[in-house]
Amino acid sequence: MIPPELQDARIPEHIGCVMDGNGRWAQRRSLPRTQGHAAGEEALLDTVYGCLDLEVRWLTVFAFSTENWRRPPDEVRFLMNFNRSLLKRRRDELNEMGVRIRFSGRRDWRVPRSVLREMDAAEEMTAGNRTLTLTMAFNYGGRAEIVDAVRGIARAGLKPNQITERAISQHLYHADLPDPDLVIRTSGEYRISNFLLWQIAYSELVFMDTLWPDFRREHLFEAVRIYQGRRRRYGGIAEGS
Ligand code: FPP
Repeated sequence: MIPPELQDARIPEHIGCVMDGNGRWAQRRSLPRTQGHAAGEEALLDTVYGCLDLEVRWLTVFAFSTENWRRPPDEVRFLMNFNRSLLKRRRDELNEMGVRIRFSGRRDWRVPRSVLREMDAAEEMTAGNRTLTLTMAFNYGGRAEIVDAVRGIARAGLKPNQITERAISQHLYHADLPDPDLVIRTSGEYRISNFLLWQIAYSELVFMDTLWPDFRREHLFEAVRIYQGRRRRYGGIAEGS
């Protein structure tokens, strides 16, 4: 159930999630780390449903970073196959719920072709949906995104005085993605880890101790409650004062 106090108050338009703690969740149960990622699927789906309950329009999750290639090859292989199988298993359900699936990140040679095919298929199937846009940051790095935006600007031949914050925003992977209002990181770590660096300039950050596989929509509601208690100032003075 949605806590009644959340219903009428400010609902974030865009929520970002750093889904951290899968490995520790598994280790605590003497399971291989990959079992923690598998258990993270339920958490991700419940978070999507929580966003639909709250009528959040944009959810962006960090599924695989440009630095995650440094993990043991077995874990990397698992995460690639897992992304593919998750898309196959869940895309119809997400499509029926009106979720548009999108990917953000580098489509480089390291991502297997079969995974890219499933990513394209899920994007195409759900392209017309607008209830919630679920952006999966996959082979994503915030610095890499800024580098790629600057390369795009150079290719477009912009003059120095045309290079504005707006121009950079328009050359990011998805120019229509609003800046997140709220970013949640689970597992008790207080870091951003290269997630949406450009876009989080004024986001409210909420850090929670829950390990990602245990995260459910109730935790999302709790994070939104904390967000609603914050006063956003954007470098100015508080809203409503
Ligand atoms: C961080 O936990 C989590 C990840 C690197 C992957 C997150 C992915 C999912 C939740 C599932 C969806 C994924 C795909 C690919 C569709 P960690 O391994 O860093 O945990 P630890 O900090 O406890 O070691």
